[in-house]
Amino acid sequence: MTATKITADKIRSMKGHGEKIAALTAYDFPMARLLDEAGIPLVLVGDSVGMVVLGYPDTTHVTLAEMEHHVRAVARAKPQALLAADLPYRTYETAEMAVANARRLVAAGAEAIKAEGGRAIVEQVRAILAAGIPFLGHLGMLPQHVLEEGGYHIKGKKDAEREALLADAEALTNAGAFAIVLELVAPSVALEVTRRIPIPTIGIGAGPDCDGQILVTHDLLGLWPWYNLKHVRPKLNAAEQMRAAAREWKLGLSK
Ligand code: KIV
Repeated sequence: MTATKITADKIRSMKGHGEKIAALTAYDFPMARLLDEAGIPLVLVGDSVGMVVLGYPDTTHVTLAEMEHHVRAVARAKPQALLAADLPYRTYETAEMAVANARRLVAAGAEAIKAEGGRAIVEQVRAILAAGIPFLGHLGMLPQHVLEEGGYHIKGKKDAEREALLADAEALTNAGAFAIVLELVAPSVALEVTRRIPIPTIGIGAGPDCDGQILVTHDLLGLWPWYNLKHVRPKLNAAEQMRAAAREWKLGLSK
């Protein structure tokens, strides 16, 4: 059977068909190939690469050149999955910057672009879409704002946050985003947003009622064992298996 390439329109149309959208991050060729072989329809080269691969304390250190490098590696896997990539911190401050930098990621192999924010970046979103590049929104806790926010906090508990989330989700929908990631959003508000907008919501730490879920693959595999995240139950303990394999190999050398 010939595999069908997944497009942004296909992801958008999954809402309401009873099929949850499963999305995971990939930062290199083997990870992208394995996730594709597992049938994951949406693969994100997230700027979380800065933390789980490059050793930065948060995503604000990630550069566009680093993102291009990882997007190229993932694109070499030629995934059937839609390949989305993050515009990193301060690379989309104006509509012109957003389009120029989105085009660089597309030239590296990205098929859709994600950036953080709602009404505040709607001009940038419209410009990216006008350039023919599908756009994935990101609302709720915005990791690129972690320093101003003083940490990773749940959004939507206060009335003003709930109203802002609904208005931002509507603004991104009207601008033409094909889906919106909701990160660390109070589950009842994530459900309200999901019911309110016609495009899919893809949650991370936002409860079970979004149209899909996204995880950082390192968290799913237990490859990032130094933090305990409430929203992830790892399916493997890859970190411990790697330590054990290395120890066993080392011991074998002295026999
Ligand atoms: O950078 C990233 O990996 C992300 C996901 C966690 C949604 O933005």
